[in-house]
Amino acid sequence: MDVFARNSMVSKIKKIKMENQNVKPAEGKLGIMVVGLGAVSSTFMTGVLMARKGLAKPVGSMTQYDKIRVGRGADKKYLSYGEIVPMAKLDDIVFGAWDVYPANAFQSAMYAEVLQEKDILPVKDELEKIVPMKAAFDKNFAKRLTGDNVKDCKTRWDMVEQIRQDIRQFKADHNCARIVVAWAASTEIYVEPNMQVHDTLAHLEAAMKADDRQNIAPSMCYAYAALAEGAPFIMGAPNTTVDIPAMWEMSEKLDLPIAGKDFKTGQTLVKSGFAPIIGTRCLGLSGWFSTNILGNRDGLVLDEPANFRTKEVSKLSTLETILKPDAQPDLYGHGNDTDDQYYHKVRINYYPPRNDNKEGWDAIDIFGWMNYPMQIKINFLCRDSILAAPLLLDLCLLSDLAARAGKSGIQRFLSFFLKAPMHDYTKGEEPVNHLFQQYTMLKNAIREMGGYEADEEID
Ligand SMILES: NC(=O)c1ccc[n+]([C@@H]2O[C@H](COP(=O)([O-])OP(=O)(O)OC[C@H]3O[C@@H](n4cnc5c(N)ncnc54)[C@H](O)[C@@H]3O)[C@@H](O)[C@H]2O)c1
Repeated sequence: MDVFARNSMVSKIKKIKMENQNVKPAEGKLGIMVVGLGAVSSTFMTGVLMARKGLAKPVGSMTQYDKIRVGRGADKKYLSYGEIVPMAKLDDIVFGAWDVYPANAFQSAMYAEVLQEKDILPVKDELEKIVPMKAAFDKNFAKRLTGDNVKDCKTRWDMVEQIRQDIRQFKADHNCARIVVAWAASTEIYVEPNMQVHDTLAHLEAAMKADDRQNIAPSMCYAYAALAEGAPFIMGAPNTTVDIPAMWEMSEKLDLPIAGKDFKTGQTLVKSGFAPIIGTRCLGLSGWFSTNILGNRDGLVLDEPANFRTKEVSKLSTLETILKPDAQPDLYGHGNDTDDQYYHKVRINYYPPRNDNKEGWDAIDIFGWMNYPMQIKINFLCRDSILAAPLLLDLCLLSDLAARAGKSGIQRFLSFFLKAPMHDYTKGEEPVNHLFQQYTMLKNAIREMGGYEADEEID
């Protein structure tokens, strides 16, 4: 068979596959309920509403811009996500939120000072209607927050019940066909996975009923409530929340997707994209020092050591799975005190004058031929919420897609968007942090859901 005949046959098979794709259509309204109505959420909502009116472009969003190759050779074509799989449209989205502070989305966007007034005012009326529901909150998990728009909860189980009621009410009031719940609230203090409590769903539920306030963070109550109400859950902060076997069990039992943790926005995006240069080129690394200044409310919360610890754990995990000391001891086995791995340090400093405009510095000490040292400096003057907003959009739309495709448990194909991708650490699984491997996983998941073959051909 000549190559054209073969390609045309392949094309026919692909078309049949497309028709056979097993993803439910994206009909009706999609309710996106966001925990936390701060800088990221208000920037996200304002951008979506502005884009809907044709007054802004959703730059940085993969679901709105990226094109994936399907087919090979002469038969290949590049299609947007919505042309491959049925995606919810921006026009279909209805927003809801919870927050510790009572400010509506308009007030919150103005307070955050991420966007200029001229980019907020055209959608003022719609933003004002997004009024946060009372938060499920425990001050011990974020000491620096003083808002009083907080639920009165007798136990953690009561917290779950109240959030479930909020979700049901919101869904009915806004006539939503589907709901996605995403955490874009402050980073909680670090909750160490406890294998007496977080190991099984039965233990988790027992701890909620016994009001175990140390092991059950409020974020776990949101996640449990979301899943119990049939909604996928996304963790945009580094919180432990769904990164425990009990939540994996629950999401698998209920056939629902979960994703996390921590939006991969500025410095870690650069790190997961830049480290592969060092690794691919077989250069050595003796140290990587990352520091940031940040002045928004997120920075304020992270100024508390217990909250910073959660972030630190998440940020530190990126390099170790890309540049592996065990696999290449000559290249990555030197630099720290015990001299078995390069030195890797991450700092975040609260510095109010910069507000949301974070500045990050990376000082990278590499070495080459015969161990001669060299230095690389990266200075990223980014805008935190401008980078996070499209990730929140993509994670919500792709989690909704995954639910309609019948995917359950940890969604590894969403690792691309996340700083500390969830993985089954109880079985020794390693997360994929390499940006371009993550991109391949993302593309292949979309291809497969669209009825195309997964492949690794160079685009
Ligand atoms: N902006 C980024 O680049 C970026 C990147 C990765 C992760 N994140 C994470 O995203 C989250 C949001 O960031 P932000 O800049 O919007 O912060 P923010 O402080 O502006 O907003 C967070 C909001 O969450 C609210 N909140 C806290 N606990 C809550 C609870 N239990 N229930 C309901 N609301 C609650 C706070 O009152 C606050 O208004 C943070 O955890 C941050 O670490 C942000």
